[in-house]
Amino acid sequence: MPIRVGILGATGAVGQRFVQLLDGHPWFTVTALAASERSADKPYGETVNWRLETDIPAYARSMVVQPCEPGLACDLVFSGLDSKVAGPIEEAFAQAGYPVISNSKNHRMDEDVPLLIPEVNPDHTAIIPHQRQRRGYGRGFIVTNPNCTSVGLTMALKPLADRFGITTVAVTTMQALSGAGYPGVASLDILDNVFPYIGDEEEKMEREPLKLLGRCDGTEFTPAPIAISAQCNRVHVKDGHLECVSVALSDRTDEAAVAETFRWFTALPQELRLPFAPAQPVVVRDEKDRPQPRYDRDAGNGMSVVVGRIRRCPVLDFKFLVLVHNTIRGAAGAAVLNAELLKAQGYIGGR
Ligand SMILES: NC(=O)c1ccc[n+]([C@@H]2O[C@H](COP(=O)([O-])OP(=O)(O)OC[C@H]3O[C@@H](n4cnc5c(N)ncnc54)[C@H](OP(=O)(O)O)[C@@H]3O)[C@@H](O)[C@H]2O)c1
Repeated sequence: MPIRVGILGATGAVGQRFVQLLDGHPWFTVTALAASERSADKPYGETVNWRLETDIPAYARSMVVQPCEPGLACDLVFSGLDSKVAGPIEEAFAQAGYPVISNSKNHRMDEDVPLLIPEVNPDHTAIIPHQRQRRGYGRGFIVTNPNCTSVGLTMALKPLADRFGITTVAVTTMQALSGAGYPGVASLDILDNVFPYIGDEEEKMEREPLKLLGRCDGTEFTPAPIAISAQCNRVHVKDGHLECVSVALSDRTDEAAVAETFRWFTALPQELRLPFAPAQPVVVRDEKDRPQPRYDRDAGNGMSVVVGRIRRCPVLDFKFLVLVHNTIRGAAGAAVLNAELLKAQGYIGGR
């Protein structure tokens, strides 16, 4: 029996990725598309300003877009809603009994909401029964995925944290334009330019990895004791966020061991063979000039994080580059993998 899914914010940059990635998914069938009043009551193919290189999937073209209100005919909802409106809409769906698998920032740091990367902290879903009971959600609940830059950073930190321990991280990002949604940054602000400010981004990068790498005892989260300093920039690239990372480790090691630790990292999604799990969560490039967004963002169908230029850091211990596809592993693909993990763990099924 396929699980019926709805997409909230289906017309946006992340929503379009959901529509594209869920086409032909082995477990999930899209049965509802929803967006704002501006788009509602029209066929999706007529109202969406489609910005992906593949055509609008046939299944979605004639589906009539609905308002983002509970009552959608589906077993769970993915949310790619604008964060200005996501908070109360997602709560209303959870209250009405829908599992809500969200991309938006609104509930990420809530004390009873898992911030989830299946390769990093699959055990944090253990807080769901507590969330349901505390909020009176019945069968509904909210699970979030991190900010796009935090996903890339945290997937690279996880294998190092497990093997060597991490005390300090300094990271500088070069973030793609699609991360700002559509139409996003004005062309006259970004052509021939680097934009050195992305609202609230540095705060998210300094906070979210600590929750992800921390512990969950079923009723509360304890953040990892790591100091992170982030600087975030918007650059003239369509997709793919590049991050320059330096780390201080608790244990002494060498570059070869760091590279090997990335290369051999696998986790629960790979063991469970979840449909969206990449065979290699962290791909290591040995060339001196990789990863690059244009060549490497689609590694593992956009679900792998690509690491390169691993070398000693004269200030901290090691430095390297990390690349993450911001709308796939950093957004819609991350949420689909979260839903697959939740199904494998028994938290979602038919309503
Ligand atoms: N872009 C990325 O790489 C990325 C990565 C990670 C996380 N995120 C997060 O994902 C979310 C979506 O980002 P995006 O880039 O896809 O934004 P976007 O392109 O601006 O799309 C926003 C979506 O929200 C809908 N919406 C706006 N106001 C609404 C309302 N009052 N009621 C119902 N629906 C409403 C829009 O519908 P209409 O088209 O009808 O206006 C549209 O479908 C944000 O919270 C963002 O922070 C984005």
